[in-house]
Amino acid sequence: MADVYARLDDVTLMYGDRVILKNCSLDVVKGAITCIIGLSGAGKSTIVRLLDGLRKPDFGHVYIGTADICHMPEAHLNDVRRHISLSFQFAALLDSLTVGDNVALPLRERTQMTDAEIRKTVEDALDSVGLAHTYDSMPSELSGGMLKRAGFARAIVTKPDLVLYDEPTTGLDPIVTHLITDTIVRLRQKLDGTAVVISHDLQSIYMMADYVAMLFEGAIIAYGTVDEIRKSSNPIVQQFIQGSEVGPIPI
Ligand SMILES: Nc1ncnc2c1ncn2[C@@H]1O[C@H](COP(=O)(O)OP(=O)(O)O)[C@@H](O)[C@H]1O
Ligand SMILES: [Mg+2]
Repeated sequence: MADVYARLDDVTLMYGDRVILKNCSLDVVKGAITCIIGLSGAGKSTIVRLLDGLRKPDFGHVYIGTADICHMPEAHLNDVRRHISLSFQFAALLDSLTVGDNVALPLRERTQMTDAEIRKTVEDALDSVGLAHTYDSMPSELSGGMLKRAGFARAIVTKPDLVLYDEPTTGLDPIVTHLITDTIVRLRQKLDGTAVVISHDLQSIYMMADYVAMLFEGAIIAYGTVDEIRKSSNPIVQQFIQGSEVGPIPI
């Protein structure tokens, strides 16, 4: 059996009286890219926040490795979270800082590195997203796709074991989407880590996913390789990936 880096185990999560996740379980395989698909409002970002320890479930458990992160002291949770990085859909760079100084922020906050070490580590992170020689540029000089990749550089500069990407390609044109998708794949290899990507972009998912999980009505109703998901006999999965108005999904 594949190694599991993170696990949602029978998680139920409510916002007020609304049940968002109900007996939801998901294994995030170590060293793989797992894509989560599902309707808007299904709870995908909520899963990302659970995996990052930003939210706790009402019932059930969230594991990182073998540690149950829902029941651990705050200091210990902070140690675990140091190995996890979250890249938000609207994560923006600070306009007033250079690209390099933006990417350096997590290192300045969380490590004792010297300025020279920080410079080198940031240059390396920028290089790995195809943005070598932008250290001294201002964010306003970069295109949308470049800004997105600079955001990735900031997310991976601390060399996290798990990177969570929440809608990394939403709103981007097909060419930039392709570039961003390729960057996610290359970063996963470079970090030799694990990634979870929330995306609506099926082309991009088919290109990068080792595993796809579909969230529907609070639970993961389908899970498998791209091939298995595309061939799924589950009518909900088929309706979703075909983008059809006709089928069991209430519209
Ligand atoms: N902090 C919150 N308080 C109350 N409801 C929320 C909160 N965050 C999200 N929700 C609701 O929970 C549901 C799932 O949200 P989310 O996880 O963001 O879905 P997705 O990322 O799949 O679009 C949505 O209906 C959303 O409106
Ligand atoms: Mg979301």
